[in-house]
Amino acid sequence: MNLDFSQIVPYIPFMIEGIWVTLQFVIVSILVGFILGTVFALFKIGKIKPLKWVADAYTSIFRGTPLILQLMIIYFGLPQLFGYDISPFLSAVLAFGLNSAAYVSEIIRAGIEAVDIGQTEASMALGVSYRKRMIDIILPQALKNILPALMNEFITLTKESAIVSTIGYLDLMRRAQVVGADLFRNFEAYLFVGLLYYLMVMTLTIIGKRLEWRLKRSD
Ligand code: ARG
Repeated sequence: MNLDFSQIVPYIPFMIEGIWVTLQFVIVSILVGFILGTVFALFKIGKIKPLKWVADAYTSIFRGTPLILQLMIIYFGLPQLFGYDISPFLSAVLAFGLNSAAYVSEIIRAGIEAVDIGQTEASMALGVSYRKRMIDIILPQALKNILPALMNEFITLTKESAIVSTIGYLDLMRRAQVVGADLFRNFEAYLFVGLLYYLMVMTLTIIGKRLEWRLKRSD
């Protein structure tokens, strides 16, 4: 068997650095996706029809086409239209944030709809405004129920982040390719980076479980 892990040792710091490069845009994308997703979820459950249509169309398009295609359109396609270059980082944040918003809006919509209608009725009877009702009463309860689904979404984003290697962004995945090409040995580099991805996802899982446990305890 042709395996020699000692050869990747000099490249280990280079590959580990990729964790932060990957995390940087994944974290920003999660935030963008979450905020935008919440807004679209509110549009979907709201009474204003045109906003509902916009949110539904948005989800349909961004969920109905491959993420890698969206990334290509943003990174290679938009510069042709607007005549200026867009950085790999910004393209990645846009593609991942916009894509995630489509999924998050559905998760949050389902979460809001699952909150007992009595909560809405009681707060309306007490004269609580829509804004206050949503922010202080409905959304916190919805968030507790959808936490596992949201964690799923964040894990998906973390792993899908590997496709930014196709636009030359020096993330974890791209670093494994670079090391593999440098050494003419691919197995060890990919295995090592696979381990790093796995550790990232496990960390997310643990954070999610802790959070879930804390929220449950406060019941
Ligand atoms: N590979 C899938 C696609 O290209 C993943 C989409 C991202 N998923 C998500 N939950 N944000 O469509």
